Amino acid sequence: MFDTYDNIVILTGSGISAESGIETFRASDGLWAQHHIDDIATLDGYRKDPDLVYSFYNQRFNQLSAPSIQPNDAHIALAELQRDFSGSVTIVTQNIDNLHERGGANNIIHMHGELVKARCEKTLKLFPYKELSKSLKCPCCKKAGNLRPHIVWFNEMPLFMNDIYKALSNADLFIAIGTSGSVYPAADFVNEANRACAHTIEINLDSTHISENFREHRIGQATEEVRELVDELLSRDRQFF
Ligand code: APR
Repeated sequence: MFDTYDNIVILTGSGISAESGIETFRASDGLWAQHHIDDIATLDGYRKDPDLVYSFYNQRFNQLSAPSIQPNDAHIALAELQRDFSGSVTIVTQNIDNLHERGGANNIIHMHGELVKARCEKTLKLFPYKELSKSLKCPCCKKAGNLRPHIVWFNEMPLFMNDIYKALSNADLFIAIGTSGSVYPAADFVNEANRACAHTIEINLDSTHISENFREHRIGQATEEVRELVDELLSRDRQFF
């Protein structure tokens, strides 16, 4: 690692929430082993069978709301980094859960949307909801059936891409945590960070098929590896600022 950094960009994936009890996508027992992507994570699937899609996201919503699902020490450590670091810390997540926010972090960039919000298809306004259904009336246009999950499905454009690429172009440290690097454009962020000459660190239980693009690898559970890295970054930061 370099001695100090000014602009840290962090990308998180489902691996950071695994120790909180939320399934990852591509593990052998992960979500995509249990469900067909085309049925529940595409606009076509939603048009074909909205009830199936609503039921999938209602289940995810109920799981996330269960008292047993809490932010873990990796979420909390990142919130501490964001609060105490002298420079800027941008957290971009592919996760649709709200565990970063519940762990105390702010301004999370949810590039794949948010489970706790529904979107009006006509006005694009976002609303909290308790249960999605075909009969649920949209608060803005007062029509039933206009609210879809605020989720970026396959073949849809991820959100906030300008902000993310701007942050990456200024980054001097890029950290990817708990993501398999299977989905673009997120899998390409490390290359953008390399172009900006940032130091790059991958934290994962295993190596991934994009590991070779990172300069440093920390293999292990997110709760342990993220905590250790955050403590290192904050103690170096305190020495210099
Ligand atoms: N600590 C660190 N890494 C972990 C942990 C853990 N406790 N548990 C799992 N991992 C790692 C796995 O080794 C794997 O590389 O997390 C990664 C999870 O990968 P995926 O299941 O592919 O999830 P993710 O990379 O977040 O998926 C990206 O795919 O379908 C879409 O939109 C969905 O946002 C998601 C995107």
